Amino acid sequence: VIFESSLEASTIVAQEIASLIRDKQSQGLPCILGLATGSSPIKVYEELVRMHKEEGLSFSNVVTFNLDEYFPMDKHNIQSYHYFMHEHLFNHIDILSENINIPDGKVPTDELYQFCIDYEMKIKSYGGLDFQLLGIGRTGHIGFNEPGSHLNSGTRSITLDHITRVDAASSFLGIDNVPRKAITMGIGTIKSAKRIVLLAWGNNKAQIIQQAIEGEITANIPATYLQEHHNTTFVLDHEAALEL
Ligand code: GLP
Repeated sequence: VIFESSLEASTIVAQEIASLIRDKQSQGLPCILGLATGSSPIKVYEELVRMHKEEGLSFSNVVTFNLDEYFPMDKHNIQSYHYFMHEHLFNHIDILSENINIPDGKVPTDELYQFCIDYEMKIKSYGGLDFQLLGIGRTGHIGFNEPGSHLNSGTRSITLDHITRVDAASSFLGIDNVPRKAITMGIGTIKSAKRIVLLAWGNNKAQIIQQAIEGEITANIPATYLQEHHNTTFVLDHEAALEL
């Protein structure tokens, strides 16, 4: 779906999330959201915060699982995804802190494997994700599932692609400060979500969006795996859709 502006698009996506939360609330059920970081979802979070403050949208039944986190990464570090999520969303809404799940960038290396299995199991214990919000990296990554990621991959530690580290360099004051690894939900984890919305804005995403939507399905561009998901929408602005 192509919108005039990222603001208009983000408002529509936030409305979909809000109505899902309210729908689950009316049934007395938790709402399980998979959340993303990066610049793309910021306006969606702003709109959800506005709905909380002005329309009384409650997040008391919401359980969140974030896609990824750098490794190693202290959660208090301003470059952490933990910090990002609190700054843009969690600090401004009534979500219960025990319902927030973000991969722990400080888990000891010898506990990392088990941590990833436990993260995956926790998502499954809720019956999977009701809704997964995604951005896309220039490598075609979703979460931090870089080229080569397997279709059935679960939550795991991965090595970041050089392009991804170049793109992150400005927020880390230089590429040497960008972590080489990350923890990410897998392609299998993401694809098991009942609904997926991928956001992309601006012409620097146009080429990868064209490949993700129109290219053949390949591990070299992990976002192409979404072509096989039964309920995925790519939400774009005009610039991101230029190559379609
Ligand atoms: C990072 C995140 C991804 C995100 C991507 C794009 O790599 N791990 O989840 O989709 O950045 O970021 P942006 O939305 O800023 O373009």
